[in-house]
Amino acid sequence: KIPALEVHSSNTPNEEIAESSSIYLSLILPTYKERINVIGMVAILTTLLDEALPGAYEIIVVDDDSPDQTWEVALRLMTHYPALRVMRRTGIRGLASAVLRGWQAARGEVLGVIDADMQQSPEVLLQLLEKLHFGADLAVASRHIEGGGVSNWNLFRRGLSRGSQLLGLLVLPEIVGQVSDPMSGYFLVRRQAIANRRLRPCGSKILLEVLSEGDVQQIEEVGYVFHEREERQEIVLKKNIEFIKHLLRLRLRVSRLRRIWRRRKSFPTTRFMQFGVVGLTGVLLNTLLLSTFQGQLGLGVLASSLIAAELVIVGEFTWNDVWTFGDIARQQRQWNQLVKRFMKFNIVCVMGLMLRAIILALLSGGLSFNIYAANMLAISVLLLWNFWISLKLSWR
Ligand code: GDD
Ligand code: MN
Repeated sequence: KIPALEVHSSNTPNEEIAESSSIYLSLILPTYKERINVIGMVAILTTLLDEALPGAYEIIVVDDDSPDQTWEVALRLMTHYPALRVMRRTGIRGLASAVLRGWQAARGEVLGVIDADMQQSPEVLLQLLEKLHFGADLAVASRHIEGGGVSNWNLFRRGLSRGSQLLGLLVLPEIVGQVSDPMSGYFLVRRQAIANRRLRPCGSKILLEVLSEGDVQQIEEVGYVFHEREERQEIVLKKNIEFIKHLLRLRLRVSRLRRIWRRRKSFPTTRFMQFGVVGLTGVLLNTLLLSTFQGQLGLGVLASSLIAAELVIVGEFTWNDVWTFGDIARQQRQWNQLVKRFMKFNIVCVMGLMLRAIILALLSGGLSFNIYAANMLAISVLLLWNFWISLKLSWR
């Protein structure tokens, strides 16, 4: 079991470092078998940060006793790069715990992490720093927003990553829903946001712990292209399973209500009310269309419910796109962006209808709830589900 690790606040000196420091940024480079990449990475980061933060940054390589002696290469680099520090952990493995261990020894006001294998462009760091400079508590490099992506992402990996993200939205909507790329391992966070918080790292996705346990109010994102490298499918699968296990562990750890209560200030209430008006109008319209198709046109139950449902989805999307999320839609006017929003909204609504049917069956069938009460409850869950997922997936 990995012990809970705390990142100290800047006014209580870390056990390793007594003196106060003028370090602004502490960037962790977690390494495992990166003896070649680490050289290039440290050189590029140093050039970049010597320019952006001369004398006010440190790079901390945290190596888990790599069999290719990455730690030894990094130690030799220290003579050329005064801002470089190296930690070698023995007898323990794990990306998330390595990053946290590095943050424990860090001196900076801002703590960050970037992969050491050149798959994440270092230049994005400057944009992340800018977000922090303008007040963000957390700045995340994301593959899933404008300007983001993955080079030659095969279908298997793309499907797995999106599937894990959607599952995350189901299991931990109040956490995973805060960012578009919850699996990112490339971000900067203000030390104060996570200082003296009990972070319990597991697997490789450290961002989940920061979002779950940190006091993060303002989150900003920057799109970046993740440079895919060929990786055996079982390794990719293993990482996604690790992510899902971490989600479940977090779900059990902190009650959803406490977490939602903690984040209540940032809940978009007005948007939710507008979405509710659109949604309830949709329910009425659906009933009207159903009786028209079955009564006047003599269509069968299945055909009329499918056509009615789809017409309502199109109507709700259009109204939401103009009214509820109009400000976001106006920034994404291209046709392909509109189609993408609509397709995602369609999938969310169809999944929502299935969710509603399951809840209805459970309540009225299983728990013999009164059908109207069960329906009202199912519709409200549907509304919340559609709103939250649409906000995080369609209108981002
Ligand atoms: N110290 C240490 N211990 N470092 C590790 C370990 C470990 O057990 N496992 C991996 N690393 C280092 C790698 O050397 C690399 O620098 C970085 O952590 C990312 O590991 P990869 O194995 O390359 O991850 P990826 O290519 O699948 O990238 C995905 O996961 C990363 C980590 O969460 C993507 O989601 C990235 O966005 C994310 O940063
Ligand atoms: Mn990698």
